[in-house]
Amino acid sequence: MSLDASDSLDIRTITASELPQWVSATSVGFLHAPTVADEEVELRGANIDLDRTQGAFEAGRCVATFRSMPRELTVPGGALVAADAITNVSVSATHRRRGIASRMMANDLTAAKQRGDALAILIAAEYPIYGRFGFGPATTITEWEIEVARATKSAPAVVEAGRLEVITPAEALKLGPELHDRFRRRTPGAINRPDRWWELTTGTVRMPSEDWKEPLFVLHRDASTGRPDGLATYSVEEKWHGMLPNCPLTVSHLIAATPTAERALWRYLLSVDWVTTLRTGWRAPDDLLPALLTDPRAARVSHSTDFMWLRLLDTPRALSARTYATAGTLVLDITDPQGHASGTFRLEASADGTATCTLTDTAPDLTLTAADLATLYLGDASAVRLAALGNLTENTPGAAARTDALFRTPRRPWCPDIF
Ligand SMILES: CC(C)(COP(=O)(O)OP(=O)(O)OC[C@H]1O[C@@H](n2cnc3c(N)ncnc32)[C@H](O)[C@@H]1OP(=O)(O)O)[C@@H](O)C(=O)NCCC(=O)NCCS
Repeated sequence: MSLDASDSLDIRTITASELPQWVSATSVGFLHAPTVADEEVELRGANIDLDRTQGAFEAGRCVATFRSMPRELTVPGGALVAADAITNVSVSATHRRRGIASRMMANDLTAAKQRGDALAILIAAEYPIYGRFGFGPATTITEWEIEVARATKSAPAVVEAGRLEVITPAEALKLGPELHDRFRRRTPGAINRPDRWWELTTGTVRMPSEDWKEPLFVLHRDASTGRPDGLATYSVEEKWHGMLPNCPLTVSHLIAATPTAERALWRYLLSVDWVTTLRTGWRAPDDLLPALLTDPRAARVSHSTDFMWLRLLDTPRALSARTYATAGTLVLDITDPQGHASGTFRLEASADGTATCTLTDTAPDLTLTAADLATLYLGDASAVRLAALGNLTENTPGAAARTDALFRTPRRPWCPDIF
């Protein structure tokens, strides 16, 4: 007799007493051993909202996990939009491809829509998983590896205004959150960071299962006010060839609230003695860095990939929250198998960039899926290209180009955080 998983499975939110086995199931789902230290269960549990944490149980065993949390997403123009941030999506290899993740996703998106979240976001472990749920890749990241001597050869000695200080982890814990808040408000695609992010990065809180090595933190302060406006976190591996230093420097995070601070931090990192190679970590695809070098070709791309995926849940709210590059009107017909974002909407942008978005029965200029709208939303994709790919239909000639004129942004969106 074969067991029908859908009949014997209980998919629901978990109770506090089920947390240890839920954390253990997450570990198994991500291909690690099931045993998780009590201390780690407690640490993870402290940041979990049980009402938004689902498990799939079979014969008393948790075989799948899913969780979401509230985040604010900065959209073009600087508005902060309530986002349902999805994480810990895992299904034990014993139960894969039986529709379990799909059912948990449906539960979560319905709850998020009812709560009033305008959109949902996640970081996809694998590209093919989430398109079917209306998500589209909305930001990308690029990582460069820089040959420092070649990159800075004959560089004029530029001294940026401001002051640099190597600070302690305790100081980073104190100064980082407020600085990050200013950074993320000016960065479309960025999200707010919970306190736990800073506690883990500074080693104030350590997960027993994760190695932590104290990094260096270098702070930049504004020249006139002394206010912190940039922070880089990095580590250097000490390597020598005989008596020749050959040290790679790896940047784990670099945030700045001003371009001056950003330039100053990169110039500092490129000037550290003994360092021959600089790995940038996950940067915005249009980061200042390669262009800041005297020889930008010395920066080789080591990774360039989709990063944060997005899904609209409330099309009028999401589309009217962001600003647009020009005045214009566009009627969009959105198809969405799950229904959350679907409808025909009239987007009307004014010369000041603000817009209204309302349901309409006018004939649409463009027909596209919720996933493709998500890809266009933060301004990092081309509607003309999506039309060329056959993804969207222009009902009015030139509508894709008009979409690009409206949606494109001066700088590309960037989400530096994995969540
Ligand atoms: C990815 C994962 C959560 C999918 O769970 P699942 O319960 O097997 O997914 P479902 O059965 O609901 O799949 C629904 C559909 O998505 C497809 N799908 C799911 N995961 C996929 C993947 N990794 N690659 C390609 N297609 C995938 C399924 O084939 C199925 O397609 P169908 O509707 O045409 O039959 C699970 O395989 C897993 O835990 N993987 C390892 C951890 C991981 O990557 N988690 C995601 C973190 S972002």
